[in-house]
Amino acid sequence: MIGVFDSGFGGLTILKEIRRVLPEYDYLYLGDNARTPYGTRSFEVVYEYTLQAVKYLFGHGCELVILACNTASAKALRSIQQRDLCDMVGVLPNGMPKRRVLGIIRPTAEAVGAMTKTGHVGVLATQGTVDSESYPIEIHKLNPEIVVTQQACPMWVPLVENCEYDSAGADYFVKKYIAELMHKDPQTDTLLLGCTHYPLLQRKIEEVLRQSGMTQVRLLSQGQIVSESLRDYLQRHRDIEKACQHGGTCRYLTTEAEQKFAQSATIFMGEAIEVTHVELT
Ligand code: DGL
Repeated sequence: MIGVFDSGFGGLTILKEIRRVLPEYDYLYLGDNARTPYGTRSFEVVYEYTLQAVKYLFGHGCELVILACNTASAKALRSIQQRDLCDMVGVLPNGMPKRRVLGIIRPTAEAVGAMTKTGHVGVLATQGTVDSESYPIEIHKLNPEIVVTQQACPMWVPLVENCEYDSAGADYFVKKYIAELMHKDPQTDTLLLGCTHYPLLQRKIEEVLRQSGMTQVRLLSQGQIVSESLRDYLQRHRDIEKACQHGGTCRYLTTEAEQKFAQSATIFMGEAIEVTHVELT
């Protein structure tokens, strides 16, 4: 299977797109809803939680694990790839790990250069992703001339996790963070939704941009970028592609109560979802 991990519901925005582009594979989604949000937690804690999740997914039949969470990609991916992966999954004769774990920051950073006309990009993300500086670092590796302005949006994940993304409260906090970012760099013409929960607020963000006359600003969300990058990856890594099952199924796991997850995820995915509770240790 292909494992897709997020701290909560946010990774479903990535999974949905991946399944649209690559419907033939079997997927196993794991949401650590009991311990969400990750965005306000330290490097050590995010690393530890993410490592537990990755171990779980490899231990339950995944060939490949996608960290469909910017915070986990920013704070845990590199350590897991460098320190833990080979011990966890074994090594091929060429020294490469037998199974792989991928993040979502690199492919997103690669897409930014083609979008901006002014060369000014805004990154909306969790405090953890902002503090890691992962986006400015990755964007500047490819496009050193791009001006990157970051804005942490700590209230957005709780709004999404609590299904309040259409409420008046969401209006207030969407306006607040967009205004803060545009005040820091009014030349920004591309806003990157650097957290997988944020596409659920996309309609509100577009509304706020329209109402504030910022019609030149375009939104970049990650689902399509990540799914196309995964398709490309599987074409380049035929051994991994062959090892993935082609049954077109999707199973869901959560560390929270099953019913709570199923209700929100069913609405979000547009199909009935059966979910199993798991403990991560
Ligand atoms: N959805 C995650 C991200 O992309 C993290 C949200 C959180 O747990 O704070 O950053």
